[in-house]
Amino acid sequence: MNYQQLYINGQWVEPAKGGSFETFDPSDESLLARVAAATAEDIDAAVKAARNAFDEGPWPKLSGAERAVVLRRIADGIRGRQQELAELEVRDNGKPLPEALWDIGDTAGCFDFYADLAEKLDTNQEQSIALADDRFSAIARKEPIGVAGAIIPWNFPMLMASWKVAPALAAGCSMVLKPSELTPLTAMHLAQIAHEAGLPAGVLNVVPGLGPDAGAPLSEHPDIDKLAFTGSVPTGSRIMQAAARDIKNISLELGGKSPFVIFADADLDAAVEWILFGIFWNQGEVCSATSRVLVERELYEPLLKRLAEEARKITIGNGLQDDILLGPLVNKAQYDKVLQAIARGHEDGARLVCGGERPAGLDKGYYVQPTVFADVPEDAWIWNEEIFGPVVCVRPFDSEEEAVRSANASRFGLGAAVMSRDLLRCERVARRFRAGIVWINCSQPTFTEAPWGGYKQSGIGRELGEWGLNNYLETKQITRYHSEQPWGWYIK
Ligand code: NAI
Ligand code: MG
Repeated sequence: MNYQQLYINGQWVEPAKGGSFETFDPSDESLLARVAAATAEDIDAAVKAARNAFDEGPWPKLSGAERAVVLRRIADGIRGRQQELAELEVRDNGKPLPEALWDIGDTAGCFDFYADLAEKLDTNQEQSIALADDRFSAIARKEPIGVAGAIIPWNFPMLMASWKVAPALAAGCSMVLKPSELTPLTAMHLAQIAHEAGLPAGVLNVVPGLGPDAGAPLSEHPDIDKLAFTGSVPTGSRIMQAAARDIKNISLELGGKSPFVIFADADLDAAVEWILFGIFWNQGEVCSATSRVLVERELYEPLLKRLAEEARKITIGNGLQDDILLGPLVNKAQYDKVLQAIARGHEDGARLVCGGERPAGLDKGYYVQPTVFADVPEDAWIWNEEIFGPVVCVRPFDSEEEAVRSANASRFGLGAAVMSRDLLRCERVARRFRAGIVWINCSQPTFTEAPWGGYKQSGIGRELGEWGLNNYLETKQITRYHSEQPWGWYIK
């Protein structure tokens, strides 16, 4: 594939200014590809194509069942190239291959899931409304919201594309997708797969580029009806401000600092396993990572000991090699950010239990050891801010009340998890968390069927499931007067 072109209006075209940027393989810092850099002119062309496809084209007028056929072909196209796409994702992002294979499988699954919902839309698109006045009858009708802009991050590149593209297409919208400049490649393959699946021209446009040069003009474009963003809080805030001018509908999935509350009656092996998965999976570059662990005092020291033992066993290296469980961070900036966070942990008086350094023997690549800090003060920077790396902070607690208070004492509210053998307690604590995604006796498993999104500064709106489809639907009421009696207000 020629990565130096943009996918606009069903064609691969040169960027107007002819610019490009580089994406790197973080395992050895080598150049992976030069990629077309969209600027405002290209974004305008892409939005015009999407607008035209929506206003004049066949896509929004097709039945849900007809759109489902194309969505399933896209799913099959992804599945047919699962290995190739997963390897590309590893090289662009750094994650271990089994995780990338999982991502790509879920990406295909997301298109299948929304194909099913597109079909169901044919029967549940219109719903009658009971009105108190029987001279009238009404229906509520769901219609596609129009042209959507999607701006996505680099941690799950193709999967994050599917969480936005699949429901938008299912709803009948057209879309302009800007992938992250750190990991743009699989999104470009998605464009090609959609093309081959017979998606009409202009319905999906893929325009890689830098945030300020391509993301900003997309978020400011007056012809966009809806903006969907996943990424950092500062950029989310900027996008919300841009959307405010034209009252664009927005959904935001932002950062987190998710707590994991472990009671003393929890199974130690299970607790350690889920803590590891909650923070070291995907190098900890996970918005919902359970990066703040609260452990009931009785279990605190035994748990820290086991956690450190297991964390030290995690195999680190190039994600394409066998048996690697932790790959490099996505780029130099993220690597520097994580090492700075570790330095701040030391400064703020946290106790380093394991890790904290670049692993020995890996001279190139953005590798950081799995890192555990204990006794982290509640006002420490690392306890409060998203690190987005393999660094977990642990604190002891003495009562359920204290654990819940500390868990909720955050400006974020994306995920939260609780572990105990006392299931009633788990259910109770789960209901007290101020977070959009709560796990009981596990952390992180994510299902296409269930709503995903955050409270507080972690975002606005929900993706996935039927909530994800509703992001791309407007609601219209149609009310009819069918009484034989004249209205009789002005004319008696
Ligand atoms: P970012 O939020 O700046 O980037 C995400 C996307 O927004 C990218 O596609 C980028 O090109 C785009 N973007 C950047 N500036 C923009 C602008 N002015 N207007 C429109 N779009 C713009 O995140 P970045 O810099 O990649 O990572 C920084 C930190 O953000 C990470 O260290 C992590 O803490 C957090 N983050 C959170 C994610 C999540 O899933 N919640 C994902 C990625 C990063
Ligand atoms: Mg890259």
